[in-house]
Amino acid sequence: MKTILVTGGAGFIGSHVVRRLVNNYPSYKIVNLDKLTYAGNLENLKDIEGKGNYEFVKGDIVDTEFINNLFNEYKFDGVIHLAAESHVDRSITNPTEFVFANVIGTVNLLNAAKTLWADDTEGKRFYHISTDEVYGSLGEEGFFVETTSYDPQSPYSASKASSDHFVRAYGNTYKLPIVISNCSNNYGANQFPEKLIPLAINNIRHNKPVPVYGKGENIRDWLFVNDHAAAIDVIYHEGRNGETYNIGGNNEWKNIDLIRLLCSVMDEKLGREKGTSEQLITFVKDRAGHDMRYAIDSSKLQNELGWEPSLQFEEGLAKTVDWYLENQEWLDHVTSGEYKNYYSAQYQDR
Ligand code: NAD
Ligand code: DAU
Repeated sequence: MKTILVTGGAGFIGSHVVRRLVNNYPSYKIVNLDKLTYAGNLENLKDIEGKGNYEFVKGDIVDTEFINNLFNEYKFDGVIHLAAESHVDRSITNPTEFVFANVIGTVNLLNAAKTLWADDTEGKRFYHISTDEVYGSLGEEGFFVETTSYDPQSPYSASKASSDHFVRAYGNTYKLPIVISNCSNNYGANQFPEKLIPLAINNIRHNKPVPVYGKGENIRDWLFVNDHAAAIDVIYHEGRNGETYNIGGNNEWKNIDLIRLLCSVMDEKLGREKGTSEQLITFVKDRAGHDMRYAIDSSKLQNELGWEPSLQFEEGLAKTVDWYLENQEWLDHVTSGEYKNYYSAQYQDR
């Protein structure tokens, strides 16, 4: 029986990763460590909480003593590290929090793994989940490849870049068996509605303005979250030590085109007349330092490990809308209380 620590498993991507591992690997014990920040939600994992090979531990990766004790107690064979502050706009308002969670938190985990595996790294693995934002912003041409130089532009991406550097440094200096992946924008069920797609779905549902930053010309490469979880599974098991793998959907959309498509899907699902939801689109003040374009070349992962995205975007987006409409209680729950304060602070003066 292998014991694997997944950090940030109560969040958006982490919950899909935990579910996949718990269901597909009965011989693993999956320990989900999460601080349950505003973004962490155990409702995301209700369907597996009673499984014998799953355990939840509430805790903070920034707390060094707690992390060292946890590694001592559980003697993890592997770590899949997703816990992070993940929203660019929040990093603009409060950058220091991102240094603690994303940099110090990652270094704490690296130190604990280094100590635990000091005598034997056979079969051990430290897998760090990162983002394409570390590469900066693309012009009209080209793609991010694994060797693209780092050029982070937001406090969020600077903190993720820093954590990536620490992970590679521990691989090089202490021979820690590490692997890193850098993924493009995810979408799907359970994403916190501070991010573009669930925020727009929630606003359209309530007939509220849909805020589009600037002219809506920024481009993102969207990947269905279950496809990211499948990539993480294959990289954890078959990726080569010390390597980086880029993960992307080969699916670039200008924000405004994506929002128009989403409006038309919502009109159809809500039985509204065609063109109704588009009237909610409102152009607002741009994000500071807004990266223009991200696009991932994932051919290394595809060629080496045989992974590929499983869904066309239109199909994935329709499934995503269905999930939010079928889980309005989930949406209502996460948008009550503190979310209202966040939303008005973020959007009222735009
Ligand atoms: P999320 O914000 O939905 O979830 C983050 C989780 O981490 C939450 O459950 C939160 O409670 C937990 N967490 C935060 N700080 C913690 C701490 N100090 N200690 C313990 N737990 C803590 O994020 P997400 O979108 O699921 O992203 C997960 C990871 O994937 C992040 O590392 C992010 O950088 C990376 N990533 C995200 C995307 C994306 O499109 N969302 C794309 C590429 C990479
Ligand atoms: O590329 C991977 C990254 O994708 C991840 O590392 C991050 O954790 C994740 O949050 C995401 O970052 P983005 O900044 O690209 O995602 P977000 O959903 O915040 O914004 C997507 C695009 O939509 C971006 O160009 C900003 C724009 N936007 C966003 C919001 C919230 C709007 O126009 N209006 C909005 O209200």
